[in-house]
Amino acid sequence: MITELPRFQKNFGRPYIYKNALLLMASEWFIDDKTLPLINGALPVMQRFENEEGLEDPEPTKLRNTINEPLNEVFTLPIFSEEFCSVFMDEVRNMEKQFTFEPNYSELKQHQINEFVLQNDARDLYLSLMKLVISKINVVFQTLWNREVVGGGIQVANYNPRDISQTAWHHDTSADISMVVPLNTGDYKGGGTEFFGRGVVPPLPNGHGLIFPSFTHLHRGLPVEDGDRYLLVFWLQSEERKEDL
Ligand SMILES: [Fe+2]
Repeated sequence: MITELPRFQKNFGRPYIYKNALLLMASEWFIDDKTLPLINGALPVMQRFENEEGLEDPEPTKLRNTINEPLNEVFTLPIFSEEFCSVFMDEVRNMEKQFTFEPNYSELKQHQINEFVLQNDARDLYLSLMKLVISKINVVFQTLWNREVVGGGIQVANYNPRDISQTAWHHDTSADISMVVPLNTGDYKGGGTEFFGRGVVPPLPNGHGLIFPSFTHLHRGLPVEDGDRYLLVFWLQSEERKEDL
């Protein structure tokens, strides 16, 4: 007897009804107000580097000096505003009323986590966030590595002790750059991310991005002991490997 329908059958044909339409129009209020001028200041600097086709050294930017590196090659930066996180969490509650957050059953069991995949089930929201990544947040990746992304996947992940509270060691194999953004820090106990051979990053404040290269950094999500931990997870791809979504 089939007890669990595959995801594409379970949600097939059911459109997601948005609550906060403002989230569909990516704009500057999404971004942390101290980080926004640093991003805008770095954009022309990175553009100059690109125009010189790599013949000159990259210039330093204020943005680079603001990015934290709590562990070797693991970076953090306030990316999204508190206001954005609060509106987005309201939207997550709305998602949970209409859809069941569930694992991707095609992944190894020990890698599964309850998730809501925006490019599948909330495509307009996915496009809004991806537009922001490409037009603004990309300069963070350029500043760190002189790399930019052209697409990828975005999902909301939920860790909780009732269903799945942690993930096993893994790489984010479908991405070049991963960015994990907490949405409700303080509402749960436990959590955080451990990087093999590097150390642990405890839950960051809401809206801060945990940014790392996806292939080199074996990592795992640490157990949530009480409550629900919600993360906005970006698996970003450079032009060379972008998959059609
Ligand atoms: Fe991961």
